[in-house]
Amino acid sequence: MTNKYMYFIANWKMYGNLSSLNTLNKIIKFSKSKEINKGRLIYCPPYTLISAFSKKFKNCQIGIGGQNCHESISYGPYTGSVNAKMLKNIGAHFVIIGHSENREKGENDKLINLKIKNALLAKLKVIFCIGETLTQKKKKKTEFVLSKQIKVGLNSVKNKSNIFIAYEPVWSIGTGVVPKSKDLFKTINFIKSKFKDKSPKVFYGGSVNPQNINDLKEINNIDGFLIGGASQNTKKFIDIVKKTYT
Ligand code: 13P
Repeated sequence: MTNKYMYFIANWKMYGNLSSLNTLNKIIKFSKSKEINKGRLIYCPPYTLISAFSKKFKNCQIGIGGQNCHESISYGPYTGSVNAKMLKNIGAHFVIIGHSENREKGENDKLINLKIKNALLAKLKVIFCIGETLTQKKKKKTEFVLSKQIKVGLNSVKNKSNIFIAYEPVWSIGTGVVPKSKDLFKTINFIKSKFKDKSPKVFYGGSVNPQNINDLKEINNIDGFLIGGASQNTKKFIDIVKKTYT
């Protein structure tokens, strides 16, 4: 059981449409109840829904984020792209950067670094995703990979007070497999040890669900969860928060 201030971030990926707005009534009600305890809820829907979510959450404490942004801070001829300023303008407070689903498509650490710097300039808080693939894990390269992702991704980012790190092992995303508790504790500590002064808060993401949250919540160096599949089901998402605090 924990009594800590914890973040619960719903990453909806490429799911949802206008009718999904109806499913949010339950979470709004929950966010105003005592049961939320010290949980901080953040929704990251697809770009198309950010504005509508932001209006829907107008009178409650639920945060809104984008799932990515373009690396340029100014407008430009970049078909299909959205930058951090545009996200801020439609009501986002956060942005996920460096998700492995985007790294897979070619986003490298340098590009991620540029995105992070420009997102901070646009006054967004950044949820910076890092994590190793299964092959890297098998080759015992996890710490090497994470160190490089942190070093390059946060290169010349002096003020880290608006950075959150999400450790998402690629082999755990959408697979139902989560790392062993003792391994996860060790990796989160390793990530925190990379920061000389104060470490950013570190979240865990990868197959978090109402069944495994009882074990995950016992890992006391985790500051929150980035939740994909289970977050699209409001009941499951609420269950995860409730179980964290019981
Ligand atoms: P799942 O919870 O569906 O494994 O997704 C995790 C994730 O990628 C969150 O960003």
